[in-house]
Amino acid sequence: MDKRKREGTKIEEREFSYLDELIESIEERIKKEEREIYTERTLKEAYNPKNVGELNNPDGAARITGPCGDTVQIHLQLEGDRIIDSKFITDGCGALTACGSVVTEMVRGKTIEEAFMVEDKDILSTLGGLPEENVHCALLAANTLRAALENYKNRNENEKRNKEKGGGDMKLCIPTLGNGGLDDLVSEHFGRAPTFTVVDMANSGVKVVENTGEHFGGVGNTPELVAGAGAEIMLCSGLGPRAISMFEQLGIEVYVGASGTVQDAINAFQAGELLEASDANACKEHRH
Ligand code: FES
Repeated sequence: MDKRKREGTKIEEREFSYLDELIESIEERIKKEEREIYTERTLKEAYNPKNVGELNNPDGAARITGPCGDTVQIHLQLEGDRIIDSKFITDGCGALTACGSVVTEMVRGKTIEEAFMVEDKDILSTLGGLPEENVHCALLAANTLRAALENYKNRNENEKRNKEKGGGDMKLCIPTLGNGGLDDLVSEHFGRAPTFTVVDMANSGVKVVENTGEHFGGVGNTPELVAGAGAEIMLCSGLGPRAISMFEQLGIEVYVGASGTVQDAINAFQAGELLEASDANACKEHRH
């Protein structure tokens, strides 16, 4: 190696070691600042979170995006009514990662009822608190856990109902846009849906009933039309409180959150992904 080359190499080495020192000092400063803001436990859970991942065929699952735009997903696996495994993934902040780690750890071994008692304040106290601007991260984790538990309960109840009815001999009704049967699209406005597709789960029979309700210049209200078609369960995208109480009086159960095709709606219902209609989830702008 000639002299010039050797000098060049020395300069490069000096530059690299200067860069290494700079990076180290920046990292040190960040860690120091983090230690001032977060508890030791929070930093431990954020940097080495437990239970990260997804389960194959979870018994309960939920994914929620908080108002800050961060998302967390929780999967639960049960044996009997006890949670034997739980996983989470998130694209959110370090505090949310810490909350996901703690909450999935907390519910392992708990029964469903015990897990329903876990609240954001329990996550916060396990972490030794979070700064004010991160308190919502604990609430997001707790709400996602609750939604995963609800999802498990819905699936379970649907399964039981299917068994009780001899393998699911229910008649489902879905407000639709046309005559496409199982491939037809779910109408977003149940009162104004041009058709209702009635699926007999006992024999997979599909019947399309035209909406002759008052919105279409006919007579009678839509819930009565649905009842007349023999439907026992209605799956729709959403509906107002007045319609919910009319269906209730007619003895028809209503589930909301359906979208896509009729088949998609049935699949979501069977997977326990639709919510039973209630005042809390009624569309306030839908008065039909
Ligand atoms: Fe939104 Fe942490 S979950 S900032």
